[in-house]
Amino acid sequence: MFKATKDKSLTERPLPEHIAIIMDGNGRYAKLRSMPRIKGHYEGMQNVKRIVRHAVDIKLKYLTLYAFSTENWSRPKSEVNYLLKLPTDFLGSFLPELIEKNVIVKTIGDFSALPKHTRKAVQTAMDKTADNTGLTLVFALNYGGRDELIGAVKEMIADVQAGTLDRNSLNSSTFDDYLMTKDMPDPEMIIRTSGEYRLSNFLLWQASYSELFFSHTLWPEFSTEELDELISQYQKRERRFGGLNEEDEPDED
Ligand code: FPP
Repeated sequence: MFKATKDKSLTERPLPEHIAIIMDGNGRYAKLRSMPRIKGHYEGMQNVKRIVRHAVDIKLKYLTLYAFSTENWSRPKSEVNYLLKLPTDFLGSFLPELIEKNVIVKTIGDFSALPKHTRKAVQTAMDKTADNTGLTLVFALNYGGRDELIGAVKEMIADVQAGTLDRNSLNSSTFDDYLMTKDMPDPEMIIRTSGEYRLSNFLLWQASYSELFFSHTLWPEFSTEELDELISQYQKRERRFGGLNEEDEPDED
């Protein structure tokens, strides 16, 4: 069980701009309580509300949540249907608060394959929050990192053939422009709950230099205190991006 410490560094050091979360453990949460799996997903959705409110309070810029992966289609149809109804239910009750809290709603993933009611709810939320300026809340829905990369490569090939992209000018920054995340910074932190140590096809390109955090807490129980604790750990980590620490750099004359 997670225990909060009394570290106050959260407000004293720069916050990450972008936190991405793999919300895992809903099924186990339900099983431990002899409840159906979908009840675990319902409790997971309730926790999304708590975490979003907190992200707004601490003035986070971007929060990306892995809500439905391209691999989740292989779950039983009833669970898939429920998972794809969650954004509709969530936005049905929470959109007024998101608008009031100045949150911008966005999605990444293949939107076209989602059920009509999900697309409609999410599109309405995106339209109604497009002019907001606060937290950008990104739902990864029918998202897969490999699909995203393949889609980007296909578009780049088409642009090279159309003469709008010079093959020799392609670099990491132009590659970024072909991704679904093109308007956002890479996540400085990726958190996965429930004690699994995998990225599971999440933000494969964008995770190159992310600091990874693995929590044993099941998603419905992942608290704002634990999020703060992980942010505080992030603030103490040294990020070198393949370079050296300042104190390890050779002196220049
Ligand atoms: C993985 O847990 C979780 C998911 C596949 C779905 C995550 C979705 C939510 C937390 C709610 C989303 C809310 C909105 C607003 C869209 P699991 O089912 O694999 O858990 P298990 O590994 O314990 O079985």
